[in-house]
Amino acid sequence: MQALGYYNGEFGNLDEMRIPMTDRAVYYGDGVYEATPTRNHIIYAIDEHVARMFSSASLLRIEPPFTPEELKSELNRMLQKMDSGENVLYWQLSRGTARRAHPFPEKTKPNLMMMITPYRFPNPDEVVSAITLEDTRFLHCNIKTLNLIPSIMAMQKAKEMGCYEAILHRNGRVTECSKSNVHILKDGVLVTAPTDNLILPGIARRHLIEACGANGIKVEERPYDVGELMRSDEIFITSSTSILRRCVRVDGQDAGGRDTASFEALKNYLWNRLTEYTHG
Ligand code: PDD
Repeated sequence: MQALGYYNGEFGNLDEMRIPMTDRAVYYGDGVYEATPTRNHIIYAIDEHVARMFSSASLLRIEPPFTPEELKSELNRMLQKMDSGENVLYWQLSRGTARRAHPFPEKTKPNLMMMITPYRFPNPDEVVSAITLEDTRFLHCNIKTLNLIPSIMAMQKAKEMGCYEAILHRNGRVTECSKSNVHILKDGVLVTAPTDNLILPGIARRHLIEACGANGIKVEERPYDVGELMRSDEIFITSSTSILRRCVRVDGQDAGGRDTASFEALKNYLWNRLTEYTHG
Protein backbone atom coordinates (compact mmCIF):
# COMPACT_ATOMS: atom_id res chain seq x y z
CA MET A 1 0.00 0.00 0.00
CA GLN A 2 1.31 3.49 -0.87
CA ALA A 3 -0.67 5.69 1.51
CA LEU A 4 -2.99 4.19 4.01
CA GLY A 5 -5.90 5.49 6.07
CA TYR A 6 -7.56 4.07 9.17
CA TYR A 7 -10.70 5.02 11.03
CA ASN A 8 -11.95 3.13 14.09
CA GLY A 9 -10.57 -0.23 12.99
CA GLU A 10 -11.20 0.10 9.22
CA PHE A 11 -8.30 0.41 6.77
CA GLY A 12 -8.43 1.83 3.27
CA ASN A 13 -6.79 3.88 0.57
CA LEU A 14 -6.01 7.21 2.25
CA ASP A 15 -7.51 9.40 -0.46
CA GLU A 16 -10.71 7.43 -0.66
CA MET A 17 -11.62 6.99 3.01
CA ARG A 18 -14.56 8.94 4.42
CA ILE A 19 -15.37 9.89 8.00
CA PRO A 20 -18.70 11.12 9.42
CA MET A 21 -19.51 14.84 9.19
CA THR A 22 -20.48 14.63 12.85
CA ASP A 23 -17.03 13.61 14.08
CA ARG A 24 -16.27 16.53 16.43
CA ALA A 25 -12.81 16.78 14.85
CA VAL A 26 -14.50 18.04 11.67
CA TYR A 27 -16.34 21.08 13.04
CA TYR A 28 -14.62 21.82 16.38
CA GLY A 29 -11.13 20.39 15.93
CA ASP A 30 -12.07 18.70 19.20
CA GLY A 31 -9.22 16.22 19.54
CA VAL A 32 -5.52 15.60 19.85
CA TYR A 33 -2.88 14.24 17.50
CA GLU A 34 0.64 12.91 17.12
CA ALA A 35 3.06 12.51 14.22
CA THR A 36 6.32 10.60 14.05
CA PRO A 37 8.55 9.09 11.36
CA THR A 38 9.12 5.41 10.77
CA ARG A 39 12.27 3.72 9.48
CA ASN A 40 12.75 0.04 8.60
CA HIS A 41 9.09 -0.40 9.60
CA ILE A 42 9.91 0.79 13.14
CA ILE A 43 8.04 3.72 14.69
CA TYR A 44 10.51 6.23 16.08
CA ALA A 45 10.14 7.05 19.80
CA ILE A 46 6.74 5.38 19.88
CA ASP A 47 6.51 5.21 23.69
CA GLU A 48 7.12 8.93 24.05
CA HIS A 49 4.58 9.86 21.35
CA VAL A 50 1.91 7.55 22.75
CA ALA A 51 2.52 8.87 26.28
CA ARG A 52 2.21 12.48 25.07
CA MET A 53 -1.03 11.66 23.27
CA PHE A 54 -2.49 10.22 26.46
CA SER A 55 -1.36 13.32 28.33
CA SER A 56 -2.90 15.69 25.71
CA ALA A 57 -6.14 13.66 25.77
CA SER A 58 -6.28 13.78 29.55
CA LEU A 59 -5.83 17.59 29.55
CA LEU A 60 -8.88 17.80 27.23
CA ARG A 61 -10.76 15.23 29.35
CA ILE A 62 -10.92 12.77 26.44
CA GLU A 63 -10.70 9.17 27.64
CA PRO A 64 -9.03 6.93 25.06
CA PRO A 65 -11.02 3.71 24.60
CA PHE A 66 -7.76 1.71 24.54
CA THR A 67 -4.57 1.29 26.55
CA PRO A 68 -1.20 2.64 25.38
CA GLU A 69 -0.19 -0.97 24.53
CA GLU A 70 -3.32 -1.48 22.43
CA LEU A 71 -2.70 1.78 20.58
CA LYS A 72 0.93 0.82 19.87
CA SER A 73 -0.13 -2.52 18.47
CA GLU A 74 -2.74 -0.83 16.21
CA LEU A 75 -0.13 1.67 14.97
CA ASN A 76 2.27 -1.18 14.23
CA ARG A 77 -0.43 -3.21 12.50
CA MET A 78 -1.01 -0.23 10.21
CA LEU A 79 2.71 0.28 9.53
CA GLN A 80 3.28 -3.36 8.59
CA LYS A 81 0.80 -2.96 5.72
CA MET A 82 3.06 -0.40 4.02
CA ASP A 83 5.48 -1.40 1.25
CA SER A 84 7.97 1.24 2.33
CA GLY A 85 9.48 1.21 5.82
CA GLU A 86 10.13 4.97 5.61
CA ASN A 87 7.00 6.94 6.39
CA VAL A 88 5.32 9.52 8.50
CA LEU A 89 2.68 8.11 10.79
CA TYR A 90 -0.01 10.54 11.94
CA TRP A 91 -2.85 9.71 14.28
CA GLN A 92 -5.58 11.67 16.00
CA LEU A 93 -8.18 10.99 18.61
CA SER A 94 -11.36 13.06 18.55
CA ARG A 95 -13.85 13.35 21.38
CA GLY A 96 -16.45 11.41 19.41
CA THR A 97 -19.36 11.65 17.02
CA ALA A 98 -22.38 13.82 17.81
CA ARG A 99 -24.58 16.62 16.47
CA ARG A 100 -22.97 20.03 16.95
CA ALA A 101 -23.29 21.34 20.53
CA HIS A 102 -20.44 22.81 22.58
CA PRO A 103 -20.71 20.68 25.76
CA PHE A 104 -19.20 17.20 25.66
CA PRO A 105 -21.67 14.72 24.14
CA GLU A 106 -22.86 12.12 26.62
CA LYS A 107 -23.23 8.99 24.55
CA THR A 108 -20.24 8.67 22.32
CA LYS A 109 -16.76 7.28 22.34
CA PRO A 110 -13.56 8.80 20.95
CA ASN A 111 -12.71 8.18 17.29
CA LEU A 112 -9.22 7.05 16.31
CA MET A 113 -7.97 8.08 12.88
CA MET A 114 -4.55 7.27 11.42
CA MET A 115 -2.77 8.19 8.22
CA ILE A 116 0.51 6.86 6.92
CA THR A 117 2.42 8.24 3.96
CA PRO A 118 5.92 7.62 2.59
CA TYR A 119 8.48 10.09 3.88
CA ARG A 120 12.12 11.00 3.39
CA PHE A 121 14.04 12.88 6.07
CA PRO A 122 15.56 16.21 5.02
CA ASN A 123 19.33 16.39 4.62
CA PRO A 124 20.60 17.42 8.08
CA ASP A 125 23.56 19.28 6.55
CA GLU A 126 21.34 21.63 4.58
CA VAL A 127 21.02 24.87 6.54
CA VAL A 128 17.68 26.69 6.74
CA SER A 129 16.31 30.19 7.21
CA ALA A 130 13.40 31.48 9.26
CA ILE A 131 11.25 34.52 9.88
CA THR A 132 10.09 35.79 13.26
CA LEU A 133 6.40 36.37 13.91
CA GLU A 134 4.24 37.32 16.86
CA ASP A 135 2.81 34.15 18.43
CA THR A 136 -0.95 34.56 18.13
CA ARG A 137 -1.87 31.07 19.36
CA PHE A 138 -3.89 30.37 22.50
CA LEU A 139 -2.49 29.59 25.95
CA HIS A 140 -2.69 25.79 25.79
CA CYS A 141 0.23 25.12 23.43
CA ASN A 142 1.40 22.26 25.66
CA ILE A 143 -1.61 20.25 24.45
CA LYS A 144 -1.21 18.82 20.94
CA THR A 145 -4.72 19.74 19.81
CA LEU A 146 -6.10 19.72 16.28
CA ASN A 147 -6.62 23.51 16.38
CA LEU A 148 -3.72 24.72 14.25
CA ILE A 149 -4.94 27.79 12.34
CA PRO A 150 -2.38 30.34 13.70
CA SER A 151 0.38 27.77 13.07
CA ILE A 152 -0.79 27.20 9.52
CA MET A 153 -0.95 30.96 8.82
CA ALA A 154 2.56 31.37 10.26
CA MET A 155 3.99 28.47 8.23
CA GLN A 156 2.42 29.78 5.02
CA LYS A 157 3.95 33.21 5.63
CA ALA A 158 7.37 31.57 6.18
CA LYS A 159 6.97 29.60 2.97
CA GLU A 160 6.01 32.71 1.00
CA MET A 161 9.16 34.39 2.33
CA GLY A 162 11.23 31.40 1.10
CA CYS A 163 11.86 30.20 4.67
CA TYR A 164 11.75 26.84 6.40
CA GLU A 165 10.01 27.96 9.58
CA ALA A 166 8.41 30.83 11.48
CA ILE A 167 10.02 31.45 14.89
CA LEU A 168 7.18 32.64 17.12
CA HIS A 169 7.50 35.05 20.02
CA ARG A 170 5.15 36.62 22.53
CA ASN A 171 6.03 40.26 22.77
CA GLY A 172 9.69 39.40 22.12
CA ARG A 173 9.87 36.20 24.20
CA VAL A 174 10.65 33.30 21.87
CA THR A 175 8.24 30.39 22.29
CA GLU A 176 8.64 27.83 19.48
CA CYS A 177 8.03 27.51 15.73
CA SER A 178 4.86 26.74 13.77
CA LYS A 179 5.58 22.99 13.86
CA SER A 180 8.90 22.63 15.67
CA ASN A 181 10.78 23.75 18.77
CA VAL A 182 13.62 26.26 18.57
CA HIS A 183 16.75 26.50 20.73
CA ILE A 184 19.87 28.65 20.80
CA LEU A 185 23.48 27.94 21.66
CA LYS A 186 25.62 30.72 23.14
CA ASP A 187 29.16 30.33 24.50
CA GLY A 188 28.71 26.55 24.60
CA VAL A 189 25.39 26.63 26.54
CA LEU A 190 22.10 25.48 25.02
CA VAL A 191 19.19 27.73 25.93
CA THR A 192 15.69 26.41 25.34
CA ALA A 193 12.28 27.75 26.37
CA PRO A 194 10.83 26.02 29.45
CA THR A 195 8.04 23.47 29.02
CA ASP A 196 5.16 25.61 30.23
CA ASN A 197 1.81 26.21 28.52
CA LEU A 198 3.44 28.33 25.78
CA ILE A 199 5.19 25.47 23.97
CA LEU A 200 4.70 21.87 23.01
CA PRO A 201 7.06 19.64 25.02
CA GLY A 202 8.77 18.31 21.91
CA ILE A 203 10.18 14.83 21.86
CA ALA A 204 13.04 15.88 19.57
CA ARG A 205 13.64 18.74 22.06
CA ARG A 206 14.03 16.15 24.84
CA HIS A 207 16.44 14.17 22.65
CA LEU A 208 18.45 17.33 21.96
CA ILE A 209 18.79 17.93 25.72
CA GLU A 210 19.95 14.32 26.06
CA ALA A 211 22.48 14.91 23.23
CA CYS A 212 23.80 17.98 25.07
CA GLY A 213 24.24 15.88 28.23
CA ALA A 214 26.19 13.26 26.29
CA ASN A 215 28.42 15.96 24.77
CA GLY A 216 29.11 17.98 27.92
CA ILE A 217 26.99 20.94 26.73
CA LYS A 218 25.22 22.71 29.60
CA VAL A 219 21.46 23.27 29.15
CA GLU A 220 19.42 26.20 30.48
CA GLU A 221 15.64 25.82 30.26
CA ARG A 222 14.55 29.46 30.56
CA PRO A 223 12.81 32.16 28.57
CA TYR A 224 14.91 34.06 26.01
CA ASP A 225 14.08 36.81 23.59
CA VAL A 226 14.52 37.60 19.90
CA GLY A 227 17.58 39.76 20.67
CA GLU A 228 19.34 36.79 22.30
CA LEU A 229 18.32 34.62 19.37
CA MET A 230 19.88 37.05 16.90
CA ARG A 231 23.12 37.25 18.93
CA SER A 232 23.43 33.48 19.51
CA ASP A 233 26.14 31.23 18.08
CA GLU A 234 23.70 28.63 16.77
CA ILE A 235 19.95 28.38 16.22
CA PHE A 236 18.58 24.83 16.22
CA ILE A 237 15.11 23.82 15.09
CA THR A 238 13.88 20.37 16.17
CA SER A 239 10.94 18.08 15.48
CA SER A 240 10.49 14.33 15.22
CA THR A 241 10.22 14.49 11.44
CA SER A 242 13.26 16.73 10.90
CA ILE A 243 15.39 15.69 13.94
CA LEU A 244 17.68 18.77 13.96
CA ARG A 245 17.91 21.68 11.51
CA ARG A 246 20.55 24.38 11.65
CA CYS A 247 19.13 27.85 11.04
CA VAL A 248 21.58 30.46 9.75
CA ARG A 249 19.34 33.30 8.55
CA VAL A 250 16.53 35.04 10.40
CA ASP A 251 14.39 37.82 8.89
CA GLY A 252 16.89 38.13 6.05
CA GLN A 253 19.91 38.62 8.35
CA ASP A 254 22.76 36.22 9.03
CA ALA A 255 22.29 34.60 12.46
CA GLY A 256 23.73 31.53 14.18
CA GLY A 257 26.02 29.24 12.19
CA ARG A 258 29.02 30.06 14.41
CA ASP A 259 29.65 26.85 16.38
CA THR A 260 30.11 24.15 13.79
CA ALA A 261 31.80 21.73 16.21
CA SER A 262 28.81 21.70 18.59
CA PHE A 263 26.34 21.42 15.72
CA GLU A 264 28.23 18.43 14.26
CA ALA A 265 28.45 16.69 17.65
CA LEU A 266 24.73 17.12 18.38
CA LYS A 267 23.68 16.19 14.83
CA ASN A 268 25.79 13.02 14.89
CA TYR A 269 24.45 12.01 18.31
CA LEU A 270 20.81 12.49 17.23
CA TRP A 271 21.15 10.72 13.89
CA ASN A 272 23.01 7.82 15.50
CA ARG A 273 20.24 7.62 18.09
CA LEU A 274 17.65 7.37 15.30
CA THR A 275 19.71 4.74 13.46
CA GLU A 276 20.19 2.65 16.60
CA TYR A 277 16.50 2.82 17.49
CA THR A 278 15.41 1.78 14.00
CA HIS A 279 18.16 -0.67 13.09
CA GLY A 280 15.58 -3.39 12.40
N1 PDD B 1 4.81 19.05 14.95
N2 PDD B 1 6.10 22.44 18.43
C1 PDD B 1 4.99 22.35 17.68
C2 PDD B 1 4.02 23.47 17.69
C3 PDD B 1 4.77 21.20 16.89
O1 PDD B 1 3.66 21.10 16.16
C4 PDD B 1 5.74 20.16 16.89
C5 PDD B 1 5.55 18.90 16.11
C6 PDD B 1 6.88 20.31 17.68
C7 PDD B 1 7.95 19.26 17.77
O2 PDD B 1 7.51 18.17 18.52
P1 PDD B 1 8.21 16.74 18.37
O3 PDD B 1 9.65 16.97 18.60
O4 PDD B 1 7.59 15.94 19.43
O5 PDD B 1 7.94 16.23 16.97
C8 PDD B 1 7.02 21.47 18.46
C9 PDD B 1 4.46 17.90 14.14
C10 PDD B 1 5.65 17.33 13.45
C11 PDD B 1 3.34 18.26 13.21
O6 PDD B 1 2.50 19.06 13.60
O7 PDD B 1 3.29 17.72 12.11
